Amino acid sequence: MSTTDPLLSTDSFTEKVVFVAGGTSGINLAITERFASLGAKVFVISRSQDKVDRAVEALSAVTPMAAGMAADVRDYDAVAQAVATCREQMGSIDVLVSGAAGNFVSDAASLSPNGFRTVIDIDLVGTFNVCRAAFEHLTKPGASIINISATQAINPMPGQVHVCAAKAGIDALTKVLAIEWGPMGVRVNAIAPGPVDGTEGMARLTPTPAHRERVLSAIPLRRYARLDEIANTAAFLSSPAGANFNGAVLVCDGGQSVLGSGAFAAAWAAA
Ligand code: NAP
Ligand code: COA
Repeated sequence: MSTTDPLLSTDSFTEKVVFVAGGTSGINLAITERFASLGAKVFVISRSQDKVDRAVEALSAVTPMAAGMAADVRDYDAVAQAVATCREQMGSIDVLVSGAAGNFVSDAASLSPNGFRTVIDIDLVGTFNVCRAAFEHLTKPGASIINISATQAINPMPGQVHVCAAKAGIDALTKVLAIEWGPMGVRVNAIAPGPVDGTEGMARLTPTPAHRERVLSAIPLRRYARLDEIANTAAFLSSPAGANFNGAVLVCDGGQSVLGSGAFAAAWAAA
């Protein structure tokens, strides 16, 4: 996007601090890179120190202020330490993105209770931990929280009972926080992507070319989302142009969810 863009320019987020949970790969890293390209200072966390180091190195090519630390979003104390470190190093947090997640395909009858709990813990409890721990460090008024949901929240999908439940919980959590924190000047929204090209998530959900082709046939636009489309949605929501969004779940899926889960599930099952 050029510097003449009416909504976003290379200094739209200058001096702003963006904290991204799960920001070391895929969609969340693309979101972090987008904010960095718009002038922000960025701080990422995920479990693997190696992934944090690689992400910080890549982000440092875009912004002079990139840092991170290893933290598991299931561990509240580790998340609290990370947001406090970000605050110390960069100042109060203007944009908080919570996108750490886990996914695998398993039908409910085969899924162990620990398998179900693991995804709920990472996605839903993790999102609560990130929002709760960051709250005291957010810029008020003016902060923007973006939780990363998925179309599984609204499209029940076989093989995804754990993810559907976790992401539906994230949508509900987003709306409650929007009501509670809106009056304090903190906007809370979610982005629900459909299939996004070149991601770990889609590698797991569409493991063969046949899966991919069938899933494409159930998306009205007949294509997956691009990483930059999700990243730009996050930047828009957090910019002055998105300033009246609060409690929204922005679905970015090429129209997949308009058809409902039936077409998508049938396509997946037939592949
Ligand atoms: P990804 O590359 O695997 O990203 C997941 C990130 O979360 C990684 O940085 C990972 O790093 C981190 N993470 C995982 N477990 C964690 C934990 N317990 N604590 C802290 N960090 C953790 O996957 P992706 O496909 O880009 O998905 C990113 C987000 O988009 C997820 O919220 C996903 O549900 C959502 N989404 C994806 C799609 C899609 O098409 N891919 C569609 C809809 C929604 P570590 O391994 O270092 O922890
Ligand atoms: N099918 C069924 N159950 C599975 C599974 C699969 N493919 N993968 C893991 N599980 C179960 C395990 O068997 C275990 O349950 P058990 O103790 O009853 O055997 C439970 O889930 C936890 O597994 P574990 O490997 O200990 O979890 P972890 O915390 O190390 O890893 C995952 C979390 C499982 C979500 C892992 O896939 C991960 O780290 N994912 C992050 C990346 C990702 O998923 N990206 C896409 C985001 S959309």
